Amino acid sequence: MMKEQIVSVRAEALEEIVNAQDMKQLENARVHILGKKGELTRLQQGMRDVPREEKPAVGALLNEVRAAVNAALDQRLVELQQAADEQSVAGVDITLPGETLPSGGLHPISLVREEAVRILRRMGFALADGPEIEDEWHCFDALNTPEDHPARNERDTFYFDSGKLLRTQTSTVQARVMEQQAPPVRIICPGSAFRRDAIDATHLSAFNQIEGLYVDKEVGVGDLKGTLEYFLKALFGEETPVRFRPHFFPFTEPSFEIDVQLQATGQAPRWIEIAGCGMVNPAVFENIDEKTGKNLYSGCTGFAFGIGLERLAMIRWGIRDIRLLIENDVRFLAQFS
Ligand code: DAH
Repeated sequence: MMKEQIVSVRAEALEEIVNAQDMKQLENARVHILGKKGELTRLQQGMRDVPREEKPAVGALLNEVRAAVNAALDQRLVELQQAADEQSVAGVDITLPGETLPSGGLHPISLVREEAVRILRRMGFALADGPEIEDEWHCFDALNTPEDHPARNERDTFYFDSGKLLRTQTSTVQARVMEQQAPPVRIICPGSAFRRDAIDATHLSAFNQIEGLYVDKEVGVGDLKGTLEYFLKALFGEETPVRFRPHFFPFTEPSFEIDVQLQATGQAPRWIEIAGCGMVNPAVFENIDEKTGKNLYSGCTGFAFGIGLERLAMIRWGIRDIRLLIENDVRFLAQFS
């Protein structure tokens, strides 16, 4: 009698489990069979009334049924989960590439600055710094640029009422470093400079330079030329055409401008000026010594240079118009990241 009941509960239970269509129905089935008032639980309680000699066989049968029910519940659970997973991605091609987030990148000026600084540091130059709001002494007087020099004109320079000004060149840092330290000096200073320049394809009114200063005993023009040629070839490649042209700067004598060929797609190659340089004018050393009252720089020789960073970027990547560098057009900038 008991055995028959067990067998029929087993059949019903397994059918109920197999027919469960979702997690909720499956849970209902579990409670219905194995819960406190479940069918199987009830049968288990009926063991009390089973005659002693039948107990082992009935007990064994109950255990077997319980195991079968548990196995069926587990299996149905897996099937339902699998079906739910398939349902949730139905119609989706999971082999398609995912959506990518656009990632930012460094501005070409930052890229070329980092590269230039890396090369110069490898050659033994240390980083120096100075303020963008300067006094006339560091910007002009110390650098042998007299009161009546055109660079000091109102029309060429941004002055504040205080008499200070936005530095027109990073050469200011030369004077600041020599005031502070004894020779030898080997420094570079990347930074911004400002001029009342009309903006065109090769000029901006706020732009960036790398200044360099090398002072020691018996430094010659050969050192200047070798250093800068090495630098430019490391940056642009061995084959890059470079030329030094005689020029005038108040703080160097002799002075040169350096041109490199810009090769932009769709344009004939053209020389553009990328730097000024020269042998430090002894008058600059005298100015520093006079200011500090220490006689540290007399008898020294040295060279200095100021490189335009925007111009380096133009040559490095064949950029035909300097204004592209400040327009923040993502179509342009994305090409560098
Ligand atoms: N300061 C100059 C300019 O802005 C560039 C320059 C020329 C820097 C000669 C130097 C130098 O250090 O020696 O045009």
